Amino acid sequence: MSTTLPLDLHRLPRHVAIIMDGNGRWAQRKRQPRLFGHKAGAESVREIVEACREIGIEYLTLYAFSSENWRRPAQEVTGLMSILKKYLEAELPRMLKNDIRLLSIGDRQRLPEAVRAALEQSIKETAGNSKLTLNLALSYGSRDEIVRAVRTISSRCVQGDMSLEQITDQSISENLDTRLLPDPDLMIRTGGEARLSNFLLWQLSYAEIYFTEIMWPDFRKEAFLQALSEYQSRERRFGRTGEQLNSV
Ligand code: IPE
Ligand code: IPE
Ligand code: MG
Repeated sequence: MSTTLPLDLHRLPRHVAIIMDGNGRWAQRKRQPRLFGHKAGAESVREIVEACREIGIEYLTLYAFSSENWRRPAQEVTGLMSILKKYLEAELPRMLKNDIRLLSIGDRQRLPEAVRAALEQSIKETAGNSKLTLNLALSYGSRDEIVRAVRTISSRCVQGDMSLEQITDQSISENLDTRLLPDPDLMIRTGGEARLSNFLLWQLSYAEIYFTEIMWPDFRKEAFLQALSEYQSRERRFGRTGEQLNSV
């Protein structure tokens, strides 16, 4: 096992985004149904949210359900929605106590009414909190989000409310679901796959990417600290040379 270096609390990523993958395989390895893995995954969510709050990370985005995940067997989708609703209801008191603000990105209209109601209730009740912003990507697909933003911008242009010159990097960002969040600094994917699966394609343009073989239900605080430590060992150049960075 590799050892974790002490973290430099002044160089933490402001925003961490995570593709929580591997619940199904984790369960199958234990000869359990996939939903057993999703339930265990909810425990990892609790632990990582708590770790972020403790360490002082400002924004955490979790990919919980993609727009493509609707293609899964109905039974799995229903089970996931029920876990989500229970999670939201159970966590609300803790979010209020721990000064956590909840946000969501994705197509909320596609969620079952009961899930949407629980989500909207928690978002409303935690709106004044500020220590950590927990952003859940639910029924989220990055291309879908970009299409919606392009439509909004185009219709403003057609109506004469916006000029072509006003279409900028910034105005596009402001029309994405993530408008209230800075771009992620670090993106973690658990579960061994090395792909983005339609997650934050625009927003991850300069994020550090960290892939780990660890399945999401096994991804706990120690593994998270390891990812943060690896992040701190990287040099973020943003197009410049290493010499330029070291001369300031
Ligand atoms: C991630 O785990 C959770 C969701 C996509 C909802 P998976 O369910 O994709 O687990 P694997 O990839 O099949 O192991
Ligand atoms: C990505 O995982 C979505 C979430 C973790 C919610 P998937 O397991 O759905 O991704 P693919 O289908 O293997 O790319
Ligand atoms: Mg998967």
